Amino acid sequence: MNTDPLSWLDERAAERVDAGLHRDLRPRAALSASIDLASNDYLGLSRHPEVVAGAADSLRRWGTGSTGSRLVTGTTAEHAELEVELAEFVGARSGLVFASGYAANLGAVTALSGRGSLVVSDAGSHASLVDACRLSRARVEIAPHRDVEAVDRILAARTEERALVLTDSVFSADGDLAPLAELHRVTRANGALLLVDEAHGIGVRGTGGRGLVHEVGLAGEPDLIITATLSKAFAAQGGAVLGDERVRAHLIDTARTFIFDTGLAPAAVGAARAALRVLRAHPDMAGRVLARAAEIARIADVGQPDSAVVSVVLGAAAVADAAARECRARGLEVGCFRPPSVPEGTSRLRLTARADLTPAELDTIADVLGDVLAKARGVDAVPA
Ligand SMILES: Cc1ncc(COP(=O)(O)O)c(C=O)c1O
Repeated sequence: MNTDPLSWLDERAAERVDAGLHRDLRPRAALSASIDLASNDYLGLSRHPEVVAGAADSLRRWGTGSTGSRLVTGTTAEHAELEVELAEFVGARSGLVFASGYAANLGAVTALSGRGSLVVSDAGSHASLVDACRLSRARVEIAPHRDVEAVDRILAARTEERALVLTDSVFSADGDLAPLAELHRVTRANGALLLVDEAHGIGVRGTGGRGLVHEVGLAGEPDLIITATLSKAFAAQGGAVLGDERVRAHLIDTARTFIFDTGLAPAAVGAARAALRVLRAHPDMAGRVLARAAEIARIADVGQPDSAVVSVVLGAAAVADAAARECRARGLEVGCFRPPSVPEGTSRLRLTARADLTPAELDTIADVLGDVLAKARGVDAVPA
C-alpha cells in the first residue's frame, strides 16, 4: 500500500508541467514600473485618491471586518447605501451586496432555480455560473455560445414550469458580447427569467459605464436579473445582485452564499461607493477604456474589441506561456489563459485596457508586443 496519500499530487503536478499548465503565484510589487495589461482595474481606480480615502473612511468608522453575516451583525448603513446606489446606477429596482461576485452568482442561481426547474447556460459563461449550475440541483442545459435559437428551442421543449437562463454580458475570456436583446425576447416569450453577469460590462459598456443591460434598453425589466462584481471597474471587492425587489427579498431569505457568508468588509464597501462617485463624475471613463482597448487590438493585430478585453489567441499552452513570460520580462504585465480556463488549443494572451493608459505606455506596448507576437506567431518582427 502507498504510505504517502499525497503522492498522486506529484504525478498530477508533473503532468501539468508537461502540458504547459503549471501555474505560478507571482506576488506583485506595491510600486512597479511594469505596465498593467493583466488586471481588471479597468478604470484605473484602485489607487485613486478618492477611492483610497473612501476605503479608509469606512475602515475607520466601521472597523476592519464586517464582524458577522449580513443577517446578524454584518450589515452597516453603508452596505444599504451601496445597494441603493448600485441599483440606481444600472437602472434596477433594488440591489443586494454579497462578499464576492462569485458568491453573488452562486447565491442568485441556486436561490432562483432548484429541483424541478431548468437552468440554461451559455457555453461561455463564467466559471462561477458553471459552478452555480452544478449546485443548483436543477436540470441543466448548456446552449452553444451566443445561440439564441438554441435557448429558445430548449426553453420551448421543457417540461419544467420554471426556467432560468444564464449568460455573461461581456464574456470574460474573449471579451465578446451576449445578444441580450434577442435573448431577453426569447426568455420572456417562454416565461423564463434571464440572469446577466455584468462583471465585465459595468464601467465599460453603456452610458457612463452603466453596463450592457442598460445600453440595450433592458434596465429595470422585472424578469431580468443582473449580477455584478465590485472587484473590477469599481476597484474594490465584493459582488451584487441587482433586480426586482421580490428577487432581493427572496435572496435575503434563501441565498446560501448570502446567509452563511460573512458580510463584505467595510473598506471594500467604502471603496466601491467612492469608485461609483468618481465614475458618475467622469462618465467619459467608460468610453476611454474602449478606445484604449481598440488601440491595443490594433497593435496586436487582432479584431476590434467590444470591451476592455483584448484576446490574442496563440494556440498551444506552451506558446502562450512563453509569450507571456517574455512580455513580463520586458515590463508588460499580461494575462495568460490556458485550459481549463479556455478550450484546448486556444491558449492566449489576455490583455485588458485601462482608462488611464498613457500615450507613452501605448508606445512601449507597441514595441514589446510587436516583437513578442511576431516570435510567437513564427514570423519576423514587423513594426506595429
Ligand atoms: C464574468 C465573471 N463573473 C464573476 C466573477 C467573480 O467575481 P469576483 O471576483 O468578485 O468573485 C468574475 C471574476 O472574477 C468574472 O469574470
